[in-house]
Amino acid sequence: MTAKPITLHELPADLHRDRLPQHVAVIMDGNGRWAKNQGLPRIMGHRRGVDTLKDMLRCCKDWGIGALTAYAFSTENWGRPLEEVDFLMTLFERVLRQELREMMEEDVQIQFIGNLSALPHSLQQEITRSVEETRHNKGTQFRVATNYGGRQEILEACRAIATQVQQGHLTPDQIDEAIFERHLYTAGTCDPDLLIRTSGEMRISNFLLWQVAYAEIYVTNALWPDFDRSEFHRALSAYQARDRRFGKLSSARS
Ligand code: IPE
Ligand code: IPE
Ligand code: MG
Repeated sequence: MTAKPITLHELPADLHRDRLPQHVAVIMDGNGRWAKNQGLPRIMGHRRGVDTLKDMLRCCKDWGIGALTAYAFSTENWGRPLEEVDFLMTLFERVLRQELREMMEEDVQIQFIGNLSALPHSLQQEITRSVEETRHNKGTQFRVATNYGGRQEILEACRAIATQVQQGHLTPDQIDEAIFERHLYTAGTCDPDLLIRTSGEMRISNFLLWQVAYAEIYVTNALWPDFDRSEFHRALSAYQARDRRFGKLSSARS
């Protein structure tokens, strides 16, 4: 665990508690570039990225944000060099093992989204253990997208629904958004209100394609290992300045 920053333990005074996002999703990008800038191997960026994520999770608790979803590994990330993929899988496993006690103390409920069956067996075991042990915790809901792909998630939902139609449990005209959502990895959870991407890239990279339909998107040039509470504060200030119209007219104008 890194030391907590000495400031920003409490919700910054300029943020409105009643207008915080309930659910923040984050594309944690820029670990490799951060390491390169420091003259370090890429894997050191991933290590530092874990510290950033731990503090962001704590920060959600401190500031009263109920759910955090973090993109840890995409279905496309298998295309990276084997050493990096192996390092990440081992890192995920170690972090889960080391952090379980603290997640229990902090009342975090951890869940995973993605195609978990393709992950190394030992990692799957740690995932099952952490999900099982934290399942009754009532604090922050922490979802980790691991071997996650939005297109794959949608395809899996389509297959499951098609099977139900084939078996006569459902007719095509009964398929609506609610039924579709029930077949996504995120079934039963609210959509992200705010999607943060670090490292300046203006893309979604196959993350939560269905669920971000009306998320407010915030992109910062900060690289993920540098994303601290001040950066999060800036993201939340930007979010609170947005006019979420959901296709209707502005509440100020109507
Ligand atoms: C994000 O950082 C972490 C993962 C995708 C696992 P990157 O590893 O993509 O870092 P950059 O984008 O190369 O700097
Ligand atoms: C997105 O980052 C995936 C994760 C953060 C896990 P990438 O670095 O893989 O995305 P691209 O390649 O820049 O789109
Ligand atoms: Mg990247």
